[in-house]
Amino acid sequence: MPELNIPAHIAIIMDGNGRWAKQRGLPRTEGHKAGTETARAVVTRCRELGVKHLTLYTFSKENWSRPESEVKTLFKLLTTFLTREEKSLKEQGIRLKVLGEIDDMPMAVRQVLKHVMRQTKNCTDMTLNLALNYSGRDEILRATKALVAKGISVDEITEEAFAAELWTGGQPDPDLIIRTSGELRLSNYLLFQCAYSEFYFTDIFWPDFSSEELEKAIAVLGNRQRRFGKTGDQLDNGE
Ligand code: IPE
Ligand code: IPE
Ligand code: MG
Repeated sequence: MPELNIPAHIAIIMDGNGRWAKQRGLPRTEGHKAGTETARAVVTRCRELGVKHLTLYTFSKENWSRPESEVKTLFKLLTTFLTREEKSLKEQGIRLKVLGEIDDMPMAVRQVLKHVMRQTKNCTDMTLNLALNYSGRDEILRATKALVAKGISVDEITEEAFAAELWTGGQPDPDLIIRTSGELRLSNYLLFQCAYSEFYFTDIFWPDFSSEELEKAIAVLGNRQRRFGKTGDQLDNGE
């Protein structure tokens, strides 16, 4: 395998669990269960590859409008996943962080999230952000309110000051955003942070996403020129 240029921050929209299950004549729950296994494998692979920040879109604010039984299942799977993975996350040096309001989540999830975050707070090999109860627009409003509440002056409102108030404060913007399942949209994900992210869309449903696919996405990114407004010639000349 050629040497991969590893992005510092990968963000993933894990989509297609329901359709994966439907294709097999299984209940959606089975798709979510299989998706959990994919998430576990991708976390481990990212950490092995040296990715420093991995963000997984786990539950959007909009997902609350799904049938209550599905929402319950999703939180139950998350609770089981975290309980089971606590030790392994710690051993792998992975710090858990939540992007989203924890206090609006069911008690059992809240407890396990807080516990695992506490247990892994000194881990430095990789940060695993779970976007949970997450909405990009809501995050932007929340940051705005936080700045106003601080009494910040108009001149002090900079991109940096604003970014520091986002859930991702202190972390770099995602270099690569991956979405599985063939949907070509952001679904309210990391709206401020994605300004210069590269996008990678695949038709593969999340439960079928593999380490090979992850490496393919990273390799594709390596073949793109990120120009940040400059011309290709400027970059070729090292400017
Ligand atoms: C992603 O799979 C998981 C969550 C959004 C929680 P979906 O459940 O959205 O699967 P599809 O899109 O219905 O196939
Ligand atoms: C986005 O997937 C949210 C997560 C992956 C958690 P959805 O399946 O909810 O997105 P839409 O509603 O189809 O855009
Ligand atoms: Mg979906």
